[in-house]
Amino acid sequence: MPRLSALLLLATSLVRASVLSQTPIYTQDDDSDTPLPLIIWHGLGDSFGNDGLQSVAALAEETNPGTFTYIIKLADDANGDSRASFFGNLTEQIDQVCADLAVHQILSTAPAVDALGFSQGGQFLRGYIERCNFPPVRSLVTFGSPHNGISEFQSCSATDWLCKGAQGLLRTNTWTQYVQSHLVPAQYFRDPFQYDDYLEYSNFLADINNERELKNQTYKENLEKLERFVMYMFEDDATVIPKESSWFAEVNGTEVQELKDRVLYKEDWLGLKALDKKGALEFKSTEGGHMSLTDKLLKDVFKGYYGPYGRSFEEKVKLDLQEEL
Ligand SMILES: *[C@@H]1O[C@H](CO)[C@@H](O)[C@H](O)[C@H]1NC(C)=O
Ligand SMILES: *[C@@H]1O[C@H](CO)[C@@H](O)[C@H](O)[C@H]1NC(C)=O
Ligand SMILES: *[C@@H]1O[C@H](CO)[C@@H](O)[C@H](O)[C@H]1NC(C)=O
Repeated sequence: MPRLSALLLLATSLVRASVLSQTPIYTQDDDSDTPLPLIIWHGLGDSFGNDGLQSVAALAEETNPGTFTYIIKLADDANGDSRASFFGNLTEQIDQVCADLAVHQILSTAPAVDALGFSQGGQFLRGYIERCNFPPVRSLVTFGSPHNGISEFQSCSATDWLCKGAQGLLRTNTWTQYVQSHLVPAQYFRDPFQYDDYLEYSNFLADINNERELKNQTYKENLEKLERFVMYMFEDDATVIPKESSWFAEVNGTEVQELKDRVLYKEDWLGLKALDKKGALEFKSTEGGHMSLTDKLLKDVFKGYYGPYGRSFEEKVKLDLQEEL
C-alpha cells in the first residue's frame, strides 16, 4: 500500500511537471485570455492527493481551459496532509501556506489567483487573504465554510480513529492552550453561550473575524480587495452546526441574525460591508447535505467567478441574460 501511494505521488508530480512546462508565463497584461491560477483548500480529513480534488481540478480546466490548479497541502505526503487538517496550530499552518504560495513559480508571478474553499478550507483561505494575500486573491468562493464558527463538533464515523482521537481531546477542554494550539476544529469553535471564553482563548477565528477590541486594519484592507466573495450554504447541512455559519450569520439559540444585521458588518470590521456595497458579496444556497456538490454547480461557479484576469463580472451577467433572451 505505501509503495502504491508513492507511485501515485510520483505519477502526480510527473503530470504536474509537464503542466508546469506548458503553462504560459503570466504577464501583467489585462487583456490576456489566460485564466488566473486556482488555489483550492480542502476540508477536514481530506488530502491533496484525493481523487475528488483531482476531478475538481479537471473540471476547472474543462470550464476555463489553461487553468493551473494548485491544491494547498500542509505535508508532502497525503497522510500527513490529512492529519494536518485535524492537528496543528492554524497560525502556523496559514504562515506555511503563505510562504509556499509566495515562492511558487507560477502562482507568485500571476497578477492574481482565484480561490476555492471546501468546508473549513474556506475560512482558512479567508485567513490567508487577511494575513498575507500574496499572491492576491481575485474571487473567493466557499462551500459550506463555517465563517462564524461551529457551536458543535461534527460526529465521526465509527472507524475514523483520527477523527475520534481529535474529538476526545476537543471535548475535554476546548479552551486550553494545548487544545487551541493542536486541534484544528477547536480553533474555529464558537459557542455564543461561551462568548467570553471564545474571545479570550480562540487561537484563530476570534482573531480572523476581528471580534476583539483591537481591530486589525490590514485584515479589512485585504479582504476589501476581493472582486468577488461568494458564500455557498448547503440547505440540509447537518455537519456544519449551525449551517447559517456558511453565510456568516450569528445563531444564538433559536435566534438567527443575518450578517447584514450584525455589528461585525455594520461597523465593517472585515470590509464585508464595503464588498457588499460594490456588489462583490454573494450569498448562495444549494440543495443537499454538507459538500453535496455536482459537476454542474462547480462548472457554473468556475464560469461565473473564475477565468481571465481582466474579465468583467457585470458584463458576464449581461451576456448570460442575452443568451436567455
Ligand atoms: C495585523 O495583521 C498583519 C498581517 O497578519 C500583521 O502583520 C500585523 O502585525 C497585525 N497588526 C496588529 C495590530 O495586530
Ligand atoms: C500558535 O502559533 C503561534 C505562532 O507560533 C503562537 O504565537 C501561538 O501562541 C500559538 N497558539 C497557541 C494557542 O499556542
Ligand atoms: C447569546 O445569548 C445569551 C443569552 O441571551 C447571551 O448571554 C450571549 O451574550 C449571547 N451571545 C452573543 C455572542 O451574542
